[in-house]
Amino acid sequence: MIFVLTGAGISRESGIDTFRDKGGLWEQVRVEDVATPEGFARDPARVYEFYDKRRRELQSGAIRPNPAHAALARLARSREVFLVTQNVDDLHERGGSPAVMHMHGELLSALCSKCGARSRWTGDLGAKDACPACGAAGGLRPDVVWFGETPYFMEEIARAAERCDLFVSIGTSGAVYPAAGLVKIARANGAGTLEINLEPSQNAAFFDGGLYGPASAKVPEWADRVLRESGASGDQ
Ligand code: OAD
Repeated sequence: MIFVLTGAGISRESGIDTFRDKGGLWEQVRVEDVATPEGFARDPARVYEFYDKRRRELQSGAIRPNPAHAALARLARSREVFLVTQNVDDLHERGGSPAVMHMHGELLSALCSKCGARSRWTGDLGAKDACPACGAAGGLRPDVVWFGETPYFMEEIARAAERCDLFVSIGTSGAVYPAAGLVKIARANGAGTLEINLEPSQNAAFFDGGLYGPASAKVPEWADRVLRESGASGDQ
């Protein structure tokens, strides 16, 4: 099984800013303001507004999956792929990937702090909105995992990292744990490891090899090679 972990770099060429590159999101806003429970408690309106803007942009038509997203979908048609993304966008789904684990949540979802339900949410979100599951108003928040919170599906993800044959990390800086530690789990259990990124990440030493360049070129190159080597074209 191939374990693929993606980060913001895979969506960069689709028009979504990364976090830590020059001019990235964390240079535009303060993490403490928009990506922590404390920031939300201090100024919920600001946090709703930040994610509303990103949710609107995602659905504006200007942001579309790129060849890297499509290549992963192609790969999954012939090989067992366990796809985990740190991204909150829906570009893997729109690119055709059949199953995507969003470990840091999803922009197009709202989380009810009263009943815990996660509901699909495509419009703006506010303090007065009612939860579609329990009906309670005032408890909805963006369904994005903030700093200090536990990512989704961690047990399942760690188990998959233990049993994969190949671990591939795409477009992530390796700065945020636990995602950044998954390569070590895979490696300790005998998997091969490959990094595909614009440049060597701070975790590069944990990978057997690297393919460096834009994801839209390097991911299709790699995926098509895997498909050729396993005798499948991926076009069916
Ligand atoms: P980062 O912004 O930290 O890293 C993006 C990586 O993508 C960098 O290593 C870039 O070199 C690389 N990159 C940029 N453009 C690329 C391209 N066109 N092709 C290939 N690689 C490219 O983003 P993440 O690692 O995803 O968490 O960040 C991890 C988490 O930190 C995010 O999920 C988010 C953030 O805080 C939460 O919000 C909880």
